[in-house]
Amino acid sequence: MSLTLKPRNPVRAKISSVGSYVPPRLLTNADLEKMVATNDQWITERTGIRERHLVDKGVATSDLAAEAAKICLSRRGIEASEVEAIIVATVTPDMAFPATACLVQDKLGAPHAWGFDLSAACSGFPYALQMGAKLVESGAHKKVLVIGSDVMSSIIDYTDRATCIIFGDGAGAVLLEPCEEGEIGLIDFHHEIDGSGAVSLNMPAGGSRLPASHATVDAKQHYVHQDGQAVYKFAVRKMAEISEGLLTRNGVAGSELGCFIPHQANKRIILSTAERLGMPEDRVIINIDRYGNTTAGTIPIAMNTAIEEGRLKKGDLVLLASVGAGFTAAATLLRWEF
Ligand code: UT7
Repeated sequence: MSLTLKPRNPVRAKISSVGSYVPPRLLTNADLEKMVATNDQWITERTGIRERHLVDKGVATSDLAAEAAKICLSRRGIEASEVEAIIVATVTPDMAFPATACLVQDKLGAPHAWGFDLSAACSGFPYALQMGAKLVESGAHKKVLVIGSDVMSSIIDYTDRATCIIFGDGAGAVLLEPCEEGEIGLIDFHHEIDGSGAVSLNMPAGGSRLPASHATVDAKQHYVHQDGQAVYKFAVRKMAEISEGLLTRNGVAGSELGCFIPHQANKRIILSTAERLGMPEDRVIINIDRYGNTTAGTIPIAMNTAIEEGRLKKGDLVLLASVGAGFTAAATLLRWEF
């Protein structure tokens, strides 16, 4: 046998299209005032959220993911049959298995794609983006769909005012392709995990430690549990720290960024990071007022907002940043190429 190694492929990956989808039903702060002891002023001042979109009964994460992916592919003008891999970042899969990526593959009719799910909560999309980029950069694939999709309403206790005001449902998708001559695409990333933070944000039951039982349901252990203050303190420090570190490592000043697209968990966390980076507010994409925190969906949905508002153009240096359950943290630097 003579082993023939392929030469290493000097390919770079770029985002070539974006699509997003949120379900039509709205849950406004006024609606929440009728459900729990809260008020519009508290929610707006503490989080920046005014309304969020929620699915109707029976609609699942793969449904939102497939809609976002269809928009993404049609904007690029390609058929689902051309997609070679699908990565779905989510913490609310349709079922524990099979992977939501399989269900999306079937819904799209993408017979040549393989794929998998990735669980990293609010950092799920940037983590999946790097995995997809590696598939392109290795030369293995030329068209990879990366999707962030969550139906957070399926794991929220709508009698708990500390969490039910925060989350929404939604999905965003990007297509990754090899760069053309002169393009740069994805530049660099910095990811961290810190499992000591698991106690601060989790869904306790439904996994192998606490399988579903009458007792776990009665104890409301299939819902999101969050120590908001602990997560806030970590997020506000870590998002700035990793963003600053990534920019410094690449010789880029915050003021040189065309666009900052952060995870949308709290407007105060976003603005504090932007200030530390020296970024003017008009280059920071904030849509948390309209969608709340859609977990893995926030960054690609915000990319879509940036495009629709004409705030993202070819050649812009873009920073993505997130912090979430795990803890997980991600900062991504890229050049926008379309
Ligand atoms: O994406 C995943 C990562 N998650 C995050 O990044 C979330 C980070 N954390 C946060 O964004 C904030 O901590 C929250 C928005 C969750 C909470 O804001 P906070 O300013 O940290 O409020 P708090 O939890 O310290 O609560 C302050 C007060 C408390 O009352 P007392 O004890 O001072 O009387 C709460 O009971 O506000 C009360 N409170 C509310 N009041 C009205 C908590 N939730 C509500 C509510 N409406 N919905």
